[in-house]
Amino acid sequence: MASTILNAPCTVPSVKGFDTQNYAGLRPTSSLRFNSGRTSFSGRSQHLFVVKASERQDGHVKKVDMSIEECEAAVVAGNAPEAPPVPPKPAAPVGTPVIQPLQLSRRPRRNRRSPALRASFQETSISPANFVYPLFIHEGQDDTPIGAMPGCYRLGWRHGLVEEVAKARDVGVNSIVLFPKVPDALKSPTGDEAYNDNGLVPRAIRLLKDKFPDLVIYTDVALDPYSSDGHDGIVREDGVIMNDETVHQLCKQAVSQARAGADVVSPSDMMDGRVGAIRAALDAEGFNHVSIMSYTAKYASSFYGPFREALDSNPRFGDKKTYQMNPANYREALIEAHADESEGADILLVKPGLPYLDIIRLLREKSPLPIAAYQVSGEYSMIKAGGVLKMIDEERVMMESLMCLRRAGADIILTYFALQAARCLCGEKR
Ligand code: PBG
Repeated sequence: MASTILNAPCTVPSVKGFDTQNYAGLRPTSSLRFNSGRTSFSGRSQHLFVVKASERQDGHVKKVDMSIEECEAAVVAGNAPEAPPVPPKPAAPVGTPVIQPLQLSRRPRRNRRSPALRASFQETSISPANFVYPLFIHEGQDDTPIGAMPGCYRLGWRHGLVEEVAKARDVGVNSIVLFPKVPDALKSPTGDEAYNDNGLVPRAIRLLKDKFPDLVIYTDVALDPYSSDGHDGIVREDGVIMNDETVHQLCKQAVSQARAGADVVSPSDMMDGRVGAIRAALDAEGFNHVSIMSYTAKYASSFYGPFREALDSNPRFGDKKTYQMNPANYREALIEAHADESEGADILLVKPGLPYLDIIRLLREKSPLPIAAYQVSGEYSMIKAGGVLKMIDEERVMMESLMCLRRAGADIILTYFALQAARCLCGEKR
């Protein structure tokens, strides 16, 4: 049973109002260490966080006037010191029916009756270390708000991006994934800007690695931000998305990102055979230490709408149904998972998240690889909108949705809530 020390760099001073213990058992103070123990539960691994405060050494020893023997003798003689009486039974409201208690051998409520008991038996936990923070970047100097995603911005890669990453690291989020807004003039049918070593993404990676060498940088591997057709692959004149030719481009894109310093390249394009081809291309260039997170089960979902607005990456015609999966399909995810596993994927991703919990659970049970869930733009925006309209409690729904993704079996979660949720877990409210 492996045990690791998680040094979540959490600079927030105190735990306030928010009911953090239901979510994390992660408490920030400078004198605390976070011990992350992985424990086996019904054959599945769960994360437990045990917070161990350093022992109190205040040097104060209480003076006693009786020896142990004298105390024991007093009790034996029937002179036990006073202790508070058993409290009276709390009264039920007038009119409560007087009944015979049910004869139940099992009362599950017993294990839920106090916050301490509930915390003891909580099966799933969540910590900022589980989050990957997706960030939109552009060539501009200002950060521009994304209309359909309140709270998200296209960040200037030289300033806004660096500041946002610093804020995330402050609350223990040390993994990000980059999505570029590429100028139209650089888009083309074959998406060649995707492997420009001095393109927006490689420049941003180099800057971030220079400032934060231990930051974990994930990249998106797909042609859509660079394609004048807005598709993830090269489009033939009859509208067919060309698989193998696209994979050729994706390999160059992944190598270019690795060269800039990416830690994990993440093909999100859903072309066949791209994981194996990218693995071979990375290895051939000496990047065998760079991981591949495969978008294994990526569905043709309407939940991506706000993201496509953010990047202006809507397909210029048609839809993505010849490469992304049919939302009606479950078994097909296994075909994709087996292919990605055998081709050398390091992490399997399911996308979207909350509407696809069954797929997350399926892959968790069928594969020993780490599982990622992507809580996509539409999921984020719905929670934000519901919160703004005061129809739901945004913060609680946010935390519950993330916890449910973990419960379903996700090790890591890509979420636009990463910073906000990590702040909650660290006891800081916005
Ligand atoms: C494109 C890509 C998409 C997302 C991540 N990478 C959109 C798409 O497939 O059209 C969506 C993410 C989100 O909605 O948050 N390769």
